[in-house]
Amino acid sequence: MRDLLAEDSARLLLHAGGKVDCAIVLGSGLSSALAGKADFDRIGYSEFSGMPIAPLTGHAGEARLGVWQGKRVLAFAGRVHLYQGFSAQQVTFSVALAAAVGARTLIVTNAAGGLNGAFVAGDLMLIADHMNLTGVNPLVGSQLENPFIDMQGAYSERLRAIAKSIDPKLREGTYAGVLGPTYETPAEARYLRTLGADAAGMSTVLETIAARARGIEVLGISLITNIVGAPNTNHAEVTAVAGASAPRLATLLDGVLTKL
Ligand code: HPA
Repeated sequence: MRDLLAEDSARLLLHAGGKVDCAIVLGSGLSSALAGKADFDRIGYSEFSGMPIAPLTGHAGEARLGVWQGKRVLAFAGRVHLYQGFSAQQVTFSVALAAAVGARTLIVTNAAGGLNGAFVAGDLMLIADHMNLTGVNPLVGSQLENPFIDMQGAYSERLRAIAKSIDPKLREGTYAGVLGPTYETPAEARYLRTLGADAAGMSTVLETIAARARGIEVLGISLITNIVGAPNTNHAEVTAVAGASAPRLATLLDGVLTKL
């Protein structure tokens, strides 16, 4: 059987000229956070053997390789989601690839709905913890000798402290990862808030699990694009708010990479 991960990682290593320091996943509308930041090479997902390809606007669907603040960075502009019919393994292929090319740090970003009453659209929230409410886990059926991964401290306190030193206005909270693709009903919004979630979104939790299973340090950043349970939430609004805040995210990423 073809080993798609081995094929893609060998190709990436050749392209990058060596191991990668840090991988970044850019969520809905956030791909522009890399604009003008470094001289990134672009590799469309269709050029890979194993990268699943998403058919939705707001997800460019390409890997970007470059040196940013002295760090060799592999960024994924666009991700696939469970709600598109992809498996947990497909959703986390990018993380497996990042690990295979040597990344020891993963920065996961996403667009999320706010549940914490103090949050407003446009806020950036550091993910301090998550609830995986998707019903699946990328380690189910895995070949790992020990799939019983400790998820205490999954979102690195060290990296969060670095992020806060760069942007003191950052919010911090618990991210609920839901399946989607529907946005929440008012009752579901109350349910998630009662559980203790500060934000909800349709990504990230599986990637963090896959990263922790490989010993990668994770920084998670949610861009609050809307308030969960509010009327008329739509994908265009979510990506527009995300795009408007991409420059602030870019400044934050720039600072974090400097201090990594
Ligand atoms: N709910 C779930 N996922 C989301 C939302 C939301 O309100 N906004 C952006 N992603």
